[in-house]
Amino acid sequence: MKIAIFNGSPRKENTAAMVQAFKEGAEAAGHSVEEYHVGKMKIAGCMACEYCHTKGNGACAQKDDLEKIMPAYKEADMIVFASPIYYFTMTAQIEAAIQRVYCIGKPASAKKVALLLSSGSPNVYDAAITQFKGFCAYTGIELAGVITANGAENKSAAKMDEIKAFAKAL
Ligand SMILES: Cc1cc2nc3c(=O)[nH]c(=O)nc-3n(C[C@H](O)[C@H](O)[C@H](O)COP(=O)(O)O)c2cc1C
Repeated sequence: MKIAIFNGSPRKENTAAMVQAFKEGAEAAGHSVEEYHVGKMKIAGCMACEYCHTKGNGACAQKDDLEKIMPAYKEADMIVFASPIYYFTMTAQIEAAIQRVYCIGKPASAKKVALLLSSGSPNVYDAAITQFKGFCAYTGIELAGVITANGAENKSAAKMDEIKAFAKAL
């Protein structure tokens, strides 16, 4: 499979470690993986101008880093969203990206998605997971799995092994 990972963390720390473990596992199983560091990109919020659904024919009127991820969003067989928890949800950067893909709605190729979440505390994932399940229901894409890491689990060998095994078994 062609897998695109959208990493919503602005840093290369805990979420990046989860992404790296996923990448290693998926590549070991023969998948091709591209990571897009959305957390470092400049992607503005949707303006609801509806250009995409009228004259734009699927293209967004705003010209920013969304253009760097749209080809992967359209073409990947699997999309992995990864984010730290910020105030009980995903980062503003990844939320902006998710809301801007409104321009094409359902991606044509993606058959599976997964979610990787990192946090400081346990039991802070309900809002992010509920929202993500809504995205899956809306797009009709199968949710292959959700993996979370909090506190000492972040970057731990046990958590990295769990993520690698998940990615290998896809
Ligand atoms: C602005 C901000 C808000 C945060 N909000 C939460 C939170 O609500 N719950 C929590 O457990 N951790 C919270 N954290 C901690 C991060 O989720 C945690 O440190 C995570 O592992 C960071 O991932 P990263 O290393 O990829 O940036 C917050 C951190 C920041 C910077």
